[in-house]
Amino acid sequence: MPARVFAVRVHWAKSPMSDTKSAPVATISSLAAHEGEVVTLKGWLYNIRSSGKLLFPMFRDGTGVIQGIVPKAAVPEEVFERVKALTQESSVVVTGRVRADKRAPSGFEIDVENVEAVHLVPESTPYPITPKEHGTDFLMEHRHLWVRSPRQAAILRIRATIMRAAQEYFDTHGFVRTDPPILTPAACEGTSTLFELDYFGDPAFLTQSGQLYIESTAMALGKVYSFGPTFRAEKSKTRRHLTEFWMIEPEVAYMDLEGDMQLAEAFLTYIVQRVLELHQTDLKTVGRDIAKLEAIRTPFPRLTYDEAHAMLDEAFKAGKLEIPHQNGDDFGSPDETYISSQFDRPVMIHRYPAAIKAFYMQPDPEDATKALCVDVLAPEGYGEIIGGSQRIDSYELLRERIEQHNLPVSAFEWYLDLRRYGSVPHAGFGMGIERCVAWICGLEHVRETIPFARTLNRIYP
Ligand code: 4AD
Ligand code: MG
Repeated sequence: MPARVFAVRVHWAKSPMSDTKSAPVATISSLAAHEGEVVTLKGWLYNIRSSGKLLFPMFRDGTGVIQGIVPKAAVPEEVFERVKALTQESSVVVTGRVRADKRAPSGFEIDVENVEAVHLVPESTPYPITPKEHGTDFLMEHRHLWVRSPRQAAILRIRATIMRAAQEYFDTHGFVRTDPPILTPAACEGTSTLFELDYFGDPAFLTQSGQLYIESTAMALGKVYSFGPTFRAEKSKTRRHLTEFWMIEPEVAYMDLEGDMQLAEAFLTYIVQRVLELHQTDLKTVGRDIAKLEAIRTPFPRLTYDEAHAMLDEAFKAGKLEIPHQNGDDFGSPDETYISSQFDRPVMIHRYPAAIKAFYMQPDPEDATKALCVDVLAPEGYGEIIGGSQRIDSYELLRERIEQHNLPVSAFEWYLDLRRYGSVPHAGFGMGIERCVAWICGLEHVRETIPFARTLNRIYP
């Protein structure tokens, strides 16, 4: 019966949102400022346990999760019955006194005095995601609800900080944000992963990277960056690939590969520091080994491609790698994992064979078969999180490379103009936000790093 009695009490017109007579509204993450006070929390019922005359509802409000205590003897009968009847994910407005508790994840509990439901989830259609284990497919199918779980919410908060810190770094170091187009007439990162669409009868493509466009704005403004969604029709099903992901890309006129590497390490270190400053609780929620993040400091170790190959060769001979790495080939995932596991910081591998890299990379003057490029591999097997390079600044060479790569020169005339008019050495890189979030949060798969992951097999919800 309590459920039915309760249902009658739920009506929108009363609007608990505007009840000004109640205790001050607080958020779970800010309860330290309210210790000992009676506050109002607006959120949802995450879970509830009971033990005879005691109820332990867990509330969440978007900023955190807190356990409430409801002893039958301490509250009016109707309040006890109302809490008891709450179903998972019902929306609630809770009033109670904040009490410090060292064992609680947030450091606090709340002695509940009253609970009003805003919307009671009917028992006939319970919330589909219960606190028990669910398969990944089921969770991805219900991603619109899965984001409510404390772990997913913690990841999304950390993601937001990583995005903010990344922009903050450039905004405070003299960079101007310039936004490249999403709809483009040509490929930047190879023609095999292009999403093609019909642009009023002509082919167009979703951007793979803003790089070519910000090379143009770098010639106008000196130091620039872009930040936005990028797209790759990746046919691979790996834990590192999405078809839609966010990339932040700096580009700097008169900067060489050395400057690019210094920028990358300073930038990454800044981001990690910001997350450590702001997200101790969230990092605990996701189970991150925080000491590993605290070890991230400049300078990062550097290896040339040749040195990295030699390291893999030795590892194979010592039986530490199953498949030998072929000199000249790109590194596979086990190769990257092995290399990164040798260091406690991100490792920068530079000067890859030009043949396996993009058309626009400047050749190494010491060895023209190598490109002046760098990949930054995150520690603990997270693989490449940054890819960057010094760009070709000679008109003749760039034109030759465009032709060699069978790219349509006409679509690149504007890009060649940058080498016709006041060309200078310049460099930049791109960091995939999702790879960075996966590493910083210590996640198995990039699908948890973005609110709605787009992968080979999924575009719902
Ligand atoms: O190494 P990439 O392909 O480099 C570029 O796009 C350059 N144009 C960037 C530049 O120099 N301005 O991609 C850069 C980064 C990778 O290191 C990785 O973090 C991420 O973008 N990335 C992906 N993330 C998720 N899913 C994918 N399919 C990704 N492809 C690249
Ligand atoms: Mg790359």
